[in-house]
Amino acid sequence: MKPAIRAENLSKRYRIGANPTGDLNLTESVKRIVRGTFSKVRSLVRADALEDENSFWAVKDISFEVPRGEAIGVIGRNGAGKSTLFKLLSRITEPTHGRLELRGRMGSLLEVGTGFHPELSGRENIYMNGSILGMARREINSKFEQIVEFSEVGKFLDTPVKRYSSGMYVRLAFAVVAHLEPEILVIDEVLAVGDASFQKRCIDRMIQLAQSGKTILFVSHNMQQIPRLCQRALMLERGQMVEIGPAGAVTQSYMDRLLTDARTSDLSNKSRSGDGRARFSRAGLVDADGRPLSVFTTGDDLILRMDIDAKATIPDVDVQVIVQNLYGTRVVTGWSREVGFPISLREGTQTVECRLKGVGLRPGHAIMLNLMVATANGTILDSVDNAVVYDVVGDDRHRHLSTSADQGIVVYDNEWRAVG
Ligand SMILES: Nc1ncnc2c1ncn2[C@@H]1O[C@H](COP(=O)(O)OP(=O)(O)OP(=O)(O)O)[C@@H](O)[C@H]1O
Ligand SMILES: [Mg+2]
Repeated sequence: MKPAIRAENLSKRYRIGANPTGDLNLTESVKRIVRGTFSKVRSLVRADALEDENSFWAVKDISFEVPRGEAIGVIGRNGAGKSTLFKLLSRITEPTHGRLELRGRMGSLLEVGTGFHPELSGRENIYMNGSILGMARREINSKFEQIVEFSEVGKFLDTPVKRYSSGMYVRLAFAVVAHLEPEILVIDEVLAVGDASFQKRCIDRMIQLAQSGKTILFVSHNMQQIPRLCQRALMLERGQMVEIGPAGAVTQSYMDRLLTDARTSDLSNKSRSGDGRARFSRAGLVDADGRPLSVFTTGDDLILRMDIDAKATIPDVDVQVIVQNLYGTRVVTGWSREVGFPISLREGTQTVECRLKGVGLRPGHAIMLNLMVATANGTILDSVDNAVVYDVVGDDRHRHLSTSADQGIVVYDNEWRAVG
């Protein structure tokens, strides 16, 4: 049987700092998707259009096949090219060169903002998406109830989706792609927007779809989700495919790479996003006297000291420190705005410290820290995921603690007494 997807040297070159609106607009991409829907196999061969030093390869020479009915996970750091690959697969953007063959109707859920028409209501968008997928109105009617129920936006069905919160938007968008029965499902990590119970329902639904023979491509930073849902995983690094294989092995190798890279406090060469007016240059845990630590001890204050280099004065910035485990599950956040601590950057280097008091992380599990600095109105200046990593160790107080993650990733003193 021919594969559902075959990519051959698929490549996309972008201009450095180009405005993302350089991509096809919604109407144009909808037209292309509609055209693509009816042809069995479509392929594109593009000549190199722009050949200069102001451009770079967001996706470079990627070749792979996905057999019908397989679920495959796509992993890689921020900026590795995952979303670009998915936009190529969904034909929202055209490859600079390379060839792509798709067999079957494709439904995609990409970044928030693509796929729905903002002025149309939830109801109208459901019908529009259905007809893009080539479904007759009565077919859509028969799925309508399920979609509304799954999305939980019933009360707002006749409200334009531009008024939806991002959570509502993603719930409806997922419900639509997951119930209109495309044969190929391409889902970027938008699910991270929803709450935990919604995410679980989405994963359950995807497992169901995978079992019923749909082909699924799924981007996630959550290394526990990928092997649950996918047989294989594909790892991207700086636009190139560096590994493809069994999901468990590839996610493990990804975590190993993260660990190796994160054992340095110098952040200047890390991959990152943001407009760059300020950048984290160093970060590391310190003890109460400011001495650098090599491990984090269960129950201690977690004190992160970070250097932020700014090109000019930026008043009133917002700094976030997100502690997560290696599987990408967030454990706790230190957030300057949430606690009302004002931070202003002046030209040069500023050192700031965030102290999370008495953090009871279960020993035996490493933690990774994501850092973000943004302006007061939310423009991201710099965002570095997996900036630093620390092993968590127990001391004498914790000898009795199990290191099994089955017991939860945080620990609290538990006091017991018999009351009856
Ligand atoms: N329209 C565009 N024009 C120019 N550069 C772009 C455009 N879209 C993405 N890029 C750049 O291409 C690179 C790959 O981006 P992409 O969004 O595919 O990464 P990603 O793997 O999805 O990252 P993340 O995990 O943060 O979602 C990044 O350096 C990004 O800044
Ligand atoms: Mg992305």
